Amino acid sequence: MALYRLIYVSQAVAGLEYPDLVKILEKSELNNKKVGITGMLSFGDSMFLQVLEGSRRVISQTYNRILLDPRHVNAELIDFSEIEHRDFGAWSMKVVQLGNQAGIRDIILKYSSSETFSPISMTGKQSLNFLRELTELYQRGTTS
Ligand SMILES: Cc1cc2nc3c(=O)[nH]c(=O)nc-3n(C[C@H](O)[C@H](O)[C@H](O)COP(=O)(O)O)c2cc1C
Repeated sequence: MALYRLIYVSQAVAGLEYPDLVKILEKSELNNKKVGITGMLSFGDSMFLQVLEGSRRVISQTYNRILLDPRHVNAELIDFSEIEHRDFGAWSMKVVQLGNQAGIRDIILKYSSSETFSPISMTGKQSLNFLRELTELYQRGTTS
């Protein structure tokens, strides 16, 4: 079956905190596992950058649901492409809170004009490469 990838950026509402992220993670893992979605959700400086991989139908259904979520606003679609294989297949959803973990600031700086995480100003390619490098960092096990 054809595989697709969707990447979007959005802004967290004021007051969103770590426990909210945990709730999003738990729900996402549960739902995504059922429908074969894999991906990563990064969060930093009040911005979300998420990638979803799976069939076109489930990606569309899930994204439409996510757009209605009051925990974030101003979602912008960055990429929707047919892909040959998954890059984030290890996780039904991995949530990464971007902080001062070893290596993270370097990856942010590599793809941004400053150390502030600003996925809204990234191109589709930059956002994908940013998320891929985060994945490598976590799969190497140098951070958790
Ligand atoms: C930034 C963000 C990312 C989310 N990612 C997912 C996701 O990958 N999968 C998912 O099912 N829900 C995700 N959610 C939660 C959905 O918006 C929604 O609350 C949930 O899917 C509802 O599931 P339910 O109908 O089973 O209660 C996300 C929410 C936010 C704010």
